[in-house]
Amino acid sequence: MSNVFYAPGEARAAKVNDLFARIARRYDLLNDLQSFGLHRNWKQRVADLARVTPGTRALDLCCGTGDIAFALAQRGADVTGLDFSPPMLEIAARRNLKSQIPNLKFQPGDAQQLPFAENSFDIVTVGYGLRNLASWERGLEEMRRVARPGARLIVLDFGKPANAAWRAVYFAHLKMSVPLIGLLFCGSASAYAYILESLKQFPAQLAVAEKMRDLKLTHVRVLNLLGGAMAINYGETAG
Ligand SMILES: C[S@@+](CC[C@H](N)C(=O)[O-])C[C@H]1O[C@@H](n2cnc3c(N)ncnc32)[C@H](O)[C@@H]1O
Repeated sequence: MSNVFYAPGEARAAKVNDLFARIARRYDLLNDLQSFGLHRNWKQRVADLARVTPGTRALDLCCGTGDIAFALAQRGADVTGLDFSPPMLEIAARRNLKSQIPNLKFQPGDAQQLPFAENSFDIVTVGYGLRNLASWERGLEEMRRVARPGARLIVLDFGKPANAAWRAVYFAHLKMSVPLIGLLFCGSASAYAYILESLKQFPAQLAVAEKMRDLKLTHVRVLNLLGGAMAINYGETAG
């Protein structure tokens, strides 16, 4: 039986939007619980790889409650966080009111049709977002389109471990513990069962690297985290 939040093709956006509206309030807590707090380190790794210098322009797509956008802004970048979920953006904006970071703003928008001109950003990141799009390829093409020459494109998402035994253990965690945590702390098992469902449909780190090469990015690298259970894809536009 397919997950209530998963739909293929263009129907996905509405389902994904429903999902994040439902879990927004508990999203940060659940991230900590399901990853044992490790997602914080992985997001810092993304910000490290971005090599921010003061004044660099950064775009964080599918920014959600803003973790990666904050990490980039704290390093001195002028950051725009973009997401299509009003409840997620509200939380990001509330966090920003508290931290009062002037070089950070959040705005609504669709990662598949970015409201920015070509050559606008030095850094374009997306954390746990590409997998949610109707077309992850289209999302990556948009990242490439708005990136300036010499820009860094960085994708963090769930990965698929190459080792079959480890993959089985990890998928069992996503199939059983993660939905249980979702049920206990967020009142929805299906919202968290969605992670595995969407990951099954997502070709993950190797295909993202391949697509980065197709887009003529240079320095394309895959950083496998936790034996490939998580992955960071990195690429640069030709300078
Ligand atoms: C799993 S959350 C990731 C949030 C944040 N980047 C993080 O790492 O914690 C995925 C986010 O992608 C957003 N999203 C999904 N599809 C989108 C789209 N087509 N355009 C913009 N945002 C989208 C959702 O609203 C949600 O906030």
